[in-house]
Amino acid sequence: MRVKFSVNATAVSVDVPDDERLVDTLRTRLRLTGTKEGCGIGECGACTVILNGLAVNSCLVLTTSCQEAEITTVEGLACGEALHPLQQAFIDHGAVQCGFCTPGMLLSAKALLDRNPNPSRDEIRKAISGNLCRCTGYEQIVRAIESVAGGRQ
Ligand code: FES
Ligand code: FES
Repeated sequence: MRVKFSVNATAVSVDVPDDERLVDTLRTRLRLTGTKEGCGIGECGACTVILNGLAVNSCLVLTTSCQEAEITTVEGLACGEALHPLQQAFIDHGAVQCGFCTPGMLLSAKALLDRNPNPSRDEIRKAISGNLCRCTGYEQIVRAIESVAGGRQ
């Protein structure tokens, strides 16, 4: 089936089988390998992208359901050489270790701040509750997101 959507503000048209998952379309067809696959069953959040304003697990989304959708992946966060404030904050706060969870964390955080620029610590924790991190213990990640919230970087 031919599916047209936009990824990181670029129009895309792909011909995909009906059962192809969005994570595979992004990684394999479009070479956007910043989106990671961990569990493949909606439990780790490594594959998180923003789909029409919502953070979703792209391993649970069929590409054929994305007709006319707007998708943001981690590759769409930086502006040229300039990192997105969340990316810079993750570096500044030591919120990245192995980095496998980081793209998903960043997109869950971005989706939160896009709809609620000044979230509480609890709201931040809730927003990333579907994103597992084996390395950091979460505290640095929460602090990094807090530092950007409300423009307080
Ligand atoms: S790979 Fe999608 S939630 Fe784990
Ligand atoms: S930094 Fe390694 S899983 Fe989060």
